[in-house]
Amino acid sequence: MVEYETILVEQRGRVGWITLNRPQALNALNGTVSEEVADAASGFDADDGIGAIVVTGSEKAFAAGADIKEMESKTAEEMIATDHFGAWTRFAAVRTPVIAAVSGYALGGGCELAMMCDIILAADTAVFGQPEVNLGVIPGMGGTQRLIRAVGYYKAAELILSGRRVKADEAERIGLVSRMVPASDLLDEATRLAETIASKSLPSVYAAKATLDAAMETSLADGLAVEKREFAALFDTADQKEGMAAFREKRPPRFQHR
Ligand code: CAA
Repeated sequence: MVEYETILVEQRGRVGWITLNRPQALNALNGTVSEEVADAASGFDADDGIGAIVVTGSEKAFAAGADIKEMESKTAEEMIATDHFGAWTRFAAVRTPVIAAVSGYALGGGCELAMMCDIILAADTAVFGQPEVNLGVIPGMGGTQRLIRAVGYYKAAELILSGRRVKADEAERIGLVSRMVPASDLLDEATRLAETIASKSLPSVYAAKATLDAAMETSLADGLAVEKREFAALFDTADQKEGMAAFREKRPPRFQHR
């Protein structure tokens, strides 16, 4: 496994783990972190021995945002020319399901990184927010777009315009997180969920994620067309035959691609 500077990467069974590891900066997301996370996630994505990815941070911080000190002196020209957050587009494009296991601060880019994942598990200690207006900027890693899709316009607008932070219970109530769990259970719960997903047929999981992604990006009619196509295509897989035969024969399925 590749050695990284700012993240820890580990394969446990069919689950790939990426742990942000810049404790001195509360896992602030600098250029090295973004490149390393995108690289590790792409590596897991290319490996059909991996059926789910978990991204996590420390107890105190999932990530306290993009690295403010790295950005402070940049010019607009530099931000555009270097596509400052471009690596995150590669991360968000992986086809393997990604679970964010969030404990502590998930602010700014940290909240946006969680929202690039498919499922957000939050410890009851988690705190989410888009505080960029306090810095004279706006969310720049997808927050203005993904937060609205998660919680609706009025809640997103309140949070982005005021910079107000929300604790895990409110985040769960408004639909920003999939599920809140006691902090002491977070990693066990992430493991259980990731292993469950990784035990399914990979082609059907990829198809489900692609179809969910389409719902975020297209009209209802276009999204339904994607669903129709993905659903039909699965009937050419051995796993569909196996899954349905197993149901008829009242036994657990033995998927080939898992
Ligand atoms: N960038 C760079 N360094 C950061 C950081 C960040 N986003 N967040 C924390 N750190 C650093 C601090 O500077 C500090 O380092 P030093 O000891 O060298 O000074 C260290 O991490 C510990 O932080 P604090 O001493 O501030 O810890 P705290 O417990 O008192 O406060 C906090 C925690 C409330 C999260 C506070 O650190 C904070 O407000 N951080 C910034 C949050 C923020 O504004 N995030 C948005 C960033 S912009 C962005 O993300 C743009 C985008 O859309 C992509």
